[in-house]
Amino acid sequence: MGKANESAPLGVFDSGLGGLTVVRALRAQCPHEDIIYLGDNARVPYGTRSPETVMSYALNCAAKLASRRVKALVVACNTVSSVAIEMLRGELDLPITGVIVPGARAATAVAGEDPVGVLGTAGTIASGAYTRAVAAISSRTEVIGQPAPLLVALAEEGWTDGEVPRLVVRRYLSAFLGPDPGPPAKPELTVACVVLGCTHFPLFRQLIADQLQAMSGRTIPVVDSAVQTAADVRVFLEQRGMAAPPGARGKLSVLVTDMPESFERVASRFLGEPLGEVEHIHLGACP
Ligand code: DGL
Repeated sequence: MGKANESAPLGVFDSGLGGLTVVRALRAQCPHEDIIYLGDNARVPYGTRSPETVMSYALNCAAKLASRRVKALVVACNTVSSVAIEMLRGELDLPITGVIVPGARAATAVAGEDPVGVLGTAGTIASGAYTRAVAAISSRTEVIGQPAPLLVALAEEGWTDGEVPRLVVRRYLSAFLGPDPGPPAKPELTVACVVLGCTHFPLFRQLIADQLQAMSGRTIPVVDSAVQTAADVRVFLEQRGMAAPPGARGKLSVLVTDMPESFERVASRFLGEPLGEVEHIHLGACP
């Protein structure tokens, strides 16, 4: 790997829209990189499926991006990063970055040895991937995981504010609060930060921060792994001489496995900029 493929695109994939929050961070930190994004929205959600199914979907997506000659892969999905990253590294001759280790690093940087709360899919929380990644950095830091699957459906719908998401968020965040002493006192927070352990969840970042404040009377950091992931990718590409040469802004190509029109409608909110053309692809049979 080296100079020869520096102009090749980066491949990024997720089960649907959520990974575009990572693309947004990549486009800010690596503005000259061409990116091919694949959203497997025909099979979203991944987070409620078995590790075996997630692994086979992940290999399917990664192989498609590899066939488009990407120079490196970014797994912009916590669920896939939790259960399939080692398998992907074994199967593909490409550098592969996931989102769990960067997220764990960002969380321990703010929490130190205090407990870390993680909101993720059922699959991510059940895998214990955050617990292991945090323990590898700080063995005294406890991780309290809370599955929050309804937030994936709400995000895919673009339903990110109002009463329904607010009630759903409050219900999930109660996992990070101690017993309610009754008014006027508020329950204690049992964590020092909350990690958005699903790439769909940055859309609820402000809502989560506001509800944590409203429920506990305290302000704590809400950690998004996208920024740290993009920083890791930038450093990695630079260190290996694989970064795109400076020049024009990188091109973004988007592939989806179902309903490109409805994907496009919601996607710009994840991306923070208008989406170019969306190509409808068929992944073929799972390996
Ligand atoms: N965006 C995915 C993640 O980060 C999950 C959404 C899903 O359940 O497919 O885990």
